Amino acid sequence: MAMLARVRSLIGVFLALLFIVVLAAPALAQQATPGSPQDRSVKEQQLLQELGKIQGRGTLPNVTSQTIEQPAGRDWRRFHEVTLRWIGAIAVLGMLAILIIFYLWRGMVRLETGRSGRMIVRFNAAERFVHWMTAVCFVILAITGLNITFGRSLLLPLMGPEAFATWSQWGKYAHNYLSFPFTIGVVAIFLMWLGGNIPNRLDAEWIKRGGGIVGHDHPPAHRFNAGQKGIYWIVVLGGLAVAITGYLLMFPFYGTTVTGMQWAQIVHGTVAVLFVAAMLAHIYIGTIGMEGAFEAMGTGQVDVNWAKEHHSLWVEDELGKGRANEPPRGRMAPAE
Ligand code: HEM
Repeated sequence: MAMLARVRSLIGVFLALLFIVVLAAPALAQQATPGSPQDRSVKEQQLLQELGKIQGRGTLPNVTSQTIEQPAGRDWRRFHEVTLRWIGAIAVLGMLAILIIFYLWRGMVRLETGRSGRMIVRFNAAERFVHWMTAVCFVILAITGLNITFGRSLLLPLMGPEAFATWSQWGKYAHNYLSFPFTIGVVAIFLMWLGGNIPNRLDAEWIKRGGGIVGHDHPPAHRFNAGQKGIYWIVVLGGLAVAITGYLLMFPFYGTTVTGMQWAQIVHGTVAVLFVAAMLAHIYIGTIGMEGAFEAMGTGQVDVNWAKEHHSLWVEDELGKGRANEPPRGRMAPAE
């Protein structure tokens, strides 16, 4: 009996020891021997906490390249690799989903009074040139910019490293060089259409009545209605924000520190993806969303009935100045 009790207590002691060893093993493994990688990283962590960053020494004249590690870098990397992707995906896919649902519910906004056959100039050649130059640059800047944010996870696995590297390099050249005509376009848009885009009391009324897009109402508007004014200010202010931050990124450390560069990138990426989402709505209304809208920027002329439905106060002024063309011969204008 005594023997059995002794064996039992020995087994108990053995199990207790085993338990302690198993629990202590990771702690022992982490107890770094001097010079081991763990030891180095413990010291790095201490340095990082004490100094705020870890710097080395280098032979390059660019001293910023000698900063090896800084906590803000990790926050920035997290923003770039996680947060910005979420903001971008939600904004762009969310807007696409809203537009598809809206189209299925509302369909194209039709010209309710039909065509009169009388045309009126809405945008002249110079205005259309500026619009299309800025729009083409925007689309290429958006695609090549989104490639920086999403390309590595979405395209690299499909294209393979060689093709992805070549495409990204050309994309980067396009992004850098097209920024110049884009900026010129945004400044020209600002100056060209500022007069018609100052918000006024009529805009509140237009918004309250659903702007003729949500329902079937046709609230009065001058040359630009409240919706178009919104797009104008998004382009001007959004364009200005991406241009300023984009040039700060393109010419690094001219008047910026590492923190400044990180902020420039955060603002650039965030404004850019929201800008893309807003422009999707603009493209929708200008194409499949509203009958007759594309002609305004396509040929530059719109039907007088279209103008009466969407810009009644503007068309009154223009007709008063005798600016509408007569319908082509043989075409009947419906009674007004
Ligand atoms: C004057 C205009 C612009 C300039 C100077 C500019 C410049 C730049 C630069 C230098 C970068 C960093 C590229 C790199 O990391 O190698 C960048 C990134 C980016 N740009 Fe632009 N850009 C401009 C306009 C736009 C526009 C209009 C859009 C989209 C609508 C856009 C979208 C983006 C996006 C999404 C990124 C990537 C952000 C990231 O993931 O870090 N950019 N841009």
